[in-house]
Amino acid sequence: MRLKNPVTVASGTFGYGREFESFVDLSRLGAVAVKGLTLEPRAGNRPPRVVETPAGMLNAIGLENVGVERYLSEKLPYLRQFDVPIIANISGFSIEEYTALTERLCEAHGADLIEVNVSCPNVRHGGMAFGSDPKMLEQITRAAVERSTVPVIVKLSPNVTDIAAMARVVEQAGAAAVSLVNTFLAMVVDVETRRPVLGNVTGGLSGPAIRPIAVRMVREVFKAVSVSIIGMGGIMTARDALEFIIAGASAIAIGTANFVNPSAALDVLGGMEEYCRRQGIQDLRRLIGSLVTDND
Ligand SMILES: Cc1cc2nc3c(=O)[nH]c(=O)nc-3n(C[C@H](O)[C@H](O)[C@H](O)COP(=O)(O)O)c2cc1C
Repeated sequence: MRLKNPVTVASGTFGYGREFESFVDLSRLGAVAVKGLTLEPRAGNRPPRVVETPAGMLNAIGLENVGVERYLSEKLPYLRQFDVPIIANISGFSIEEYTALTERLCEAHGADLIEVNVSCPNVRHGGMAFGSDPKMLEQITRAAVERSTVPVIVKLSPNVTDIAAMARVVEQAGAAAVSLVNTFLAMVVDVETRRPVLGNVTGGLSGPAIRPIAVRMVREVFKAVSVSIIGMGGIMTARDALEFIIAGASAIAIGTANFVNPSAALDVLGGMEEYCRRQGIQDLRRLIGSLVTDND
């Protein structure tokens, strides 16, 4: 699928789109990813569910969402008013749940792209455990690809030793693209009470603190596979986004930055256009993976 521009928003940081209506004209984005959907509605983890950290934040939302049926009846009609591809991010606790979600979304034309989240660190079963087991990753990807009538993106977990190996598994199982990174498993302790700050004990670290690791991972994946990459992790500015593109991403997503500056995605898009004008770049695709090194 060709996007009109490479700037998208990261699942879970942009609600179902409407939450940002006074800040972002959705039709100016390359794509909109909605909050991770499950078959049934979920209330998520007990609070506190977020905590700020140096140059980032931890979250342990636990996939709170309205469930696929309410997404289709209540959230989708709003999103469909805009000329923008919708990325439905899906999560499950079994292969059957991923299969059922994919089938339901495709039959109801509820997504232009399906992003399979096998990397959520904040749920006890499934989630990250699927994304760090190559066999499960392969089976879930294949199940989604077989049932889907739209391209399937698999969102990779950074909580693995060799992310390039995981990308290869996903490519061989038929995914059209990979997105990376999800959050890094992390913890904050309140030293007065000696209790973890988050109700879930651990959470996922996002924001600028993780960006250099995410850029390195995008580079590794770019060298390992030929499917497209959606890069994310701490992008706050156009310069940050360009790092991902030069490392090998074809598109990027704005996540935690949306909480600090709700129009961050459009600011990043404007900054990338300005960079291309200044550098005389007619086609941004020329920048993808254009990193200059002597020993890469
Ligand atoms: C509050 C919050 C909720 C998130 N929910 C989801 C989710 O439902 N599904 C998913 O695949 N990723 C989810 N993520 C991960 C983001 O989409 C993104 O991969 C990650 O935060 C790294 O990007 P960033 O540093 O720009 O935020 C969530 C992140 C945050 C901060």
